Amino acid sequence: MAAPQARLICASSLLLDGGRGHRFEIEQADGSRLPAFVVRYQGQPRAYLNRCRHIPVELDLQDGDLFDLSGNYLICSMHGARYRPDTGYCTWGPCRGQFLAALDVFERDGQVWLNVMPA
Ligand code: FES
Repeated sequence: MAAPQARLICASSLLLDGGRGHRFEIEQADGSRLPAFVVRYQGQPRAYLNRCRHIPVELDLQDGDLFDLSGNYLICSMHGARYRPDTGYCTWGPCRGQFLAALDVFERDGQVWLNVMPA
């Protein structure tokens, strides 16, 4: 049987532009799990590992609140690093110039999927 090529993450309707994110986990080959999230920004779902590039903590302290007050940046709750939602690039804070680890997600039939095709 062929391996699945995409994994269902959530309904598209859960993601409002600049609104609360949806948290999920990525399974590693060794069985460990990594926290991740998906948000909607400028109409598109954007997903990243939920791990700040300053210290490897979750950006949102587990509440799914990932945007700053402007709705234009993802913000780390620990020290306030700001990341561009479309690229994961850190524009301000102690990890300025680094990128969040991006995940490949897409929408189909009103649902958001994670591409799990091997590279
Ligand atoms: S842990 Fe995210 S900015 Fe310090």
